[in-house]
Parts: sequence; structure tokens; C-alpha cells
Amino acid sequence: MRTKTATRSFGTGSREGHDSSAFYARKMYSGTRCNDTYEAVNSVPGDYLDRIFHHSSEDMSELPDNSVALMVTSPPYNVGKDYDEDLSLDEYLTFLKRVLGETYRVLVPGGRVAFNVANLGRRPYIPLNSYIAGIACELGFLMRGEIIWVKGKGAAGSCAWGSWMSANNPTLRDLHEYVLVFSKQRFDRAGKGRSTISRDEFMAATTSIWHIPPESARKLGHPAPFPVALVERLIHLYTFENEVVLDPFMGSGSTAVAAALCNRRYVGYEIEAKYVSICRQRLAEINGTQLCPCAHTQKSAQG
Ligand SMILES: C[S@@+](CC[C@H](N)C(=O)[O-])C[C@H]1O[C@@H](n2cnc3c(N)ncnc32)[C@H](O)[C@@H]1O
Repeated sequence: MRTKTATRSFGTGSREGHDSSAFYARKMYSGTRCNDTYEAVNSVPGDYLDRIFHHSSEDMSELPDNSVALMVTSPPYNVGKDYDEDLSLDEYLTFLKRVLGETYRVLVPGGRVAFNVANLGRRPYIPLNSYIAGIACELGFLMRGEIIWVKGKGAAGSCAWGSWMSANNPTLRDLHEYVLVFSKQRFDRAGKGRSTISRDEFMAATTSIWHIPPESARKLGHPAPFPVALVERLIHLYTFENEVVLDPFMGSGSTAVAAALCNRRYVGYEIEAKYVSICRQRLAEINGTQLCPCAHTQKSAQG
């Protein structure tokens, strides 16, 4: 019989059958709000499935509490893109907190957030990944981990290295972004479902460094799309078949496209009508059909 290992001063070579209870009993974990009760799960009304709502995701009142399995998003960065306002850092983080608060409400117990973010600037560097992790934890989310998304060659072309070959002021050039991963209330999922991830994909997706090429902004007509492959991997890893995936900042619709390709349902929010149109066009292309015009819904039209 294999002997159980336990957390020890100098680590242990094997993790199989590992007893980590002593580690999690330490005071560092005493404030963690993990909740083992299952709240009732609701369904997103059928009329709202596979829809992009054309208004701010600060209000997601179309979606019932406890109804969405996964939120995947990349937020507006407040850096001067055409859809960006010029918010102070505090105002910007307060805005993200409102959206993350609504996300917390609509996720099922055990539901997940995969939040793609890049850090900004150099003078000084703004560590949005740390600020957003802090906000999510304040809201009660349980952090599961942080994926380093290495975007590869496209990102390596930058020559913003500061002082050239001089210690005067050399600057780091980021080749990566982050995907911050959280759970609501508990780490496992209450309901059962069919998982769709392959063995090889599971092995790659459960490491913290993902190599996925970036998406072309020009090709999609959106200034900051993320690749469908990134979202597909997150969907396969964190949801069961047919579950609902939310993107509160839908942009050109990469999350909706990935959800459709993975046999999931999507729901999203986007304030710019031109991006809602791009999203509908992309979905029509993968469905091979024209989408119903009511798929793009103005909040005002819903009464
Ligand atoms: C970084 S982009 C998302 C890109 C998307 N992941 C894609 O692949 O195309 C952020 C998007 O959020 C939208 N946006 C900004 N503020 C918003 C808000 N309050 N509610 C909903 N969408 C918003 C912007 O118009 C922009 O398209």
C-alpha cells in the first residue's frame, strides 16, 4: 500500500495521496470563506440564452442569481481605446468591482471566473492583476490560480527596452498577460455534467503557463480581441457541456464563438453597437446561417 505523504519542512517528492490538512489548518487560511452548502441553482431564461445585451454589464439584471457556470472576459483597460473613458485608477477599479459583484451574484455555487488582464505602463508599472485579485477576494471569490498567457512572437517585437544596453533605466518588455481564475463559494461543482476536455488538453491546461498566439485586431475589426483558442481551453477545463458562459465585455464576440464551438450556451454584454454587429457576423459565419435579428437586444427594448 502506498504511504500517505504530508506537508513537511523540506517538501515531499510525491503528491499522490498527499495529506495537506496540516497546511490548510494554518492561521494563514483562517479567514478563507469556503462554503460547503449548495444554494439552489437557477436557469437563464431560454429567451436570453445566446444573446448579447447592448448595455453596460454593471447591471446584468436579465440574469438570475446562481445561473451561470463560467465568466470569461477581458475588460476595457482604460488606456485610450475608442471605447475607453478616462477614469482615474480608483474610478476604474470601482467600475470593475461593480461588474465583478454582478458576476458573483449570477454565478452558480462553484462557478468560475477567468479574467484576462495585462498590466499597464512603466512609470510606474500598474499591476492590474494584483488589484483585480484583491477586489475579487474582497467580494468573496476564492482564488484558484493565475495563468501566465505567453503570447509568443507577436509580443516580442517591441523595442521599448528603455536605456539600450545600459543600467541607467532598462525596461522589462512583457511577453505575457494573465488569466486570473476564481470560484464562487466552493471549488468543486455541485451539479454533474459531461466534461469535454481531452487528455492532452487537460495536461496542458492544468499547468500555469499557456502558450497561445494572439488574435489579429485588424482581421476582426476590434482593437483588443483575445484568441478563441484561449477561451475554448478555459471552457473545456471549467465547464460541462451545454452550460452557460458569460462575457460581460463581449467585444468582437470571441467568447460567444468559443462557446458555440464547444457546445455551450453564451450570454454577453457590450456597449458598442459596432462590436455587437461584428459578434453577430462571426456567429453567423460559424453557424452558416443568418442569426435572428433579435439576438442583439437593446435594454430599452426589453421594458
Ligand atoms: C478588451 S475588449 C473585449 C474584447 C473581447 N474579448 C474580444 O475578443 O473581442 C472590452 C470590451 O468591453 C466593452 N465595454 C466597455 N465598457 C463596457 C461596459 N460598461 N459594459 C459592457 N461592455 C463594455 C468595450 O466596448 C470593448 O469592446
